[in-house]
Amino acid sequence: MTALKALGGTSDLLPDEAERWQHLEATARSLFRLYGFREVRTPILEEAQLFLQSLGAQAEIVTKQMVLFKDRGDREIALRPEGTASAVRAFIEKGLDTTGGLTRWYYLGPMFRAERPQAGRRRQFHQIGVELFGSPAPYQDAEVIQLLRALLLKFGIDRFRLNLNSLGCRSDRKGMLELVRGSFTPVQEQLCPECKERFTRNPLRILDCKEPECASRRHPVDLSKAVCAGCRDHFETVLQALEGAGLKRDVDYSLDPSLVRGLDYYTKTAFEVIHPDLGGAQNALGGGGRYDDLVESLGGVSTPAVGFAVGMERVFMVLDKSRSQGTDETARGPEVFVAALGEASLREGIRLLTQLRQSGISGVTDYEGRSLRRQLEQANRLGCRLVLMLGDQEQAKGVVTLKEMSTGEQMEVPLESCVAELKKRLQNQKGSDPFW
Ligand code: HAM
Repeated sequence: MTALKALGGTSDLLPDEAERWQHLEATARSLFRLYGFREVRTPILEEAQLFLQSLGAQAEIVTKQMVLFKDRGDREIALRPEGTASAVRAFIEKGLDTTGGLTRWYYLGPMFRAERPQAGRRRQFHQIGVELFGSPAPYQDAEVIQLLRALLLKFGIDRFRLNLNSLGCRSDRKGMLELVRGSFTPVQEQLCPECKERFTRNPLRILDCKEPECASRRHPVDLSKAVCAGCRDHFETVLQALEGAGLKRDVDYSLDPSLVRGLDYYTKTAFEVIHPDLGGAQNALGGGGRYDDLVESLGGVSTPAVGFAVGMERVFMVLDKSRSQGTDETARGPEVFVAALGEASLREGIRLLTQLRQSGISGVTDYEGRSLRRQLEQANRLGCRLVLMLGDQEQAKGVVTLKEMSTGEQMEVPLESCVAELKKRLQNQKGSDPFW
């Protein structure tokens, strides 16, 4: 029988790793709350049509990367490749486009793109993102960009580069395509086969080509030449607002006049965060921008919007690199191991364990009657900080023997004050734990 394995480009997260994810998720949630964003959960399955209509029929995500299948009703279903389209669909479906006001949503969860798996390119990956509906204000773009920076800094990531550009409005698009075609015409023959095709179908995407041989790599195009005065003013105000928030150009962010995004819905401000440790073609940690036409194009009342998403696997790739350079993080097992010896002590131990858990202290015990040595080995393997030892002697005296695993220190504690003593010790230790 062939061994069953997880599909290529998908991963299992075992508890040590899952707990690191939970920690970053909690960090993100509390930061988003500070900015007034609330969580939205949309389905992983959507009608494929949603993504065809929103991401652009020529976008690579649609032409090459959608995970598609027919359901029993013969409908074409997609596993969501990103979160924005689903958020917009939910926003319209629930009638929020008709109520006015601002809607601030965040989401986290799995996304799917059928790509050839490689480092930083997964078939199932996870995004943390925000979408803000209802404000055309450039200050709002600046606030969302600030939030993205704050999120990465809170995650403990620095050395990232935040690139900004303006893609103008829909009426600028035709001129922009002509500008790009015009500037690639002289080098058309030196483009990679894919870009040759893009030249007619989707020339903007040539600017995002990752092929090292492609002429596009040596040929930046200044898209701002095709941006109208209104959109230019909008972008100027975004930059001023960033300046006002203390973000310095060429230090905290850079302008990249040939920055484009892989999705068609963007208008005006677009941005991307890249990190040197990701290297290669998959160097984007996150990206986003304004998409003022998307709600209307999916059938809703015209509503301006702006947002971003960060790829969690890539966040961990960067964190893991810096970790291997010396930063340490501690995974968490249960805090306490109750090592009871003999039936009577085990019964007392179980009572104690229940008390601990009721007081918010995590703990486990051994029901197998193993020797004290084996139980201490287990506690060590699980990373427990404290062991409570309980045998006939302790029972007779009405105490437990408490052992600090890091120092080996042991002391007797009366049973009735055991929970208070553990709380005190764990509280002190938490303060010095780099993970928390
Ligand atoms: P995106 O640039 O397609 O934007 O994806 C955002 C991030 O998701 C990327 O920067 C990357 O970190 C991660 N990512 C994308 N594909 C993969 C993959 N195959 N494997 C691992 N990580 C990946 C969006 O999805 C937009 N919805 C962002 C947005 C929100 N724009 C406005 N609001």
